[in-house]
Amino acid sequence: MLFPEGVAIDGVTGSVQPATARYAKRLSELRGLFQDERAQERAIVDRDDPVVYEVIDYRKAESDLCFGTTIMSPGKVGAEYYMTRGHFHQRRDRGEAYYTQSGEGLLLLESRAGESRTVEMRPGVCAFIPPDWAHRSINTGSEKLVFVWFCATDAGHEYGEIRERGMRRLVVERDGRMVVTDNPKFLGDGSKLA
Ligand code: F6R
Ligand code: ZN
Repeated sequence: MLFPEGVAIDGVTGSVQPATARYAKRLSELRGLFQDERAQERAIVDRDDPVVYEVIDYRKAESDLCFGTTIMSPGKVGAEYYMTRGHFHQRRDRGEAYYTQSGEGLLLLESRAGESRTVEMRPGVCAFIPPDWAHRSINTGSEKLVFVWFCATDAGHEYGEIRERGMRRLVVERDGRMVVTDNPKFLGDGSKLA
């Protein structure tokens, strides 16, 4: 049986107390994600394989609802800011919310039909992610980006499609400013390699 409890979330560090699970993604585990593969290999060595992001869960299998935090380091690979892998949910009828606590970033979304959208991530903004929109968060600032996410426990993650074809847009720094640009390597439906 489940019992109610208060979960303390620190909006600056992203700590979750009590937590049920956590993981970290280092730059070496994100090969293929960034455009500039050589810059990524150099950064893995020069920066001692940094943690790009961490995820901390509060998840009870018997409950319909779960939540947790994502803590993203600031940094870039080439011109691209540090980002998450990005995913659709396995269950196409499950959306999510991302409530930013600290830092600044951009949430990049893509519908199944191929429409791209962005939502600014800054403290106080709760981003609504509709069902069946792929989502990737990007730390465009110079501090940690910390956000709380809430979704259905059975939503699941589907990474394959975004990993194989990428997203339609990239978020890069150009002349000291954040710019959203087309992904030259995007493999759309028609051009998918056999
Ligand atoms: C859960 C969710 C977040 C992300 C996390 C890491 O549905 O959207 O908890 O899982 O921000 O991003 P990914 O999973 O894309 O590496
Ligand atoms: Zn998600």
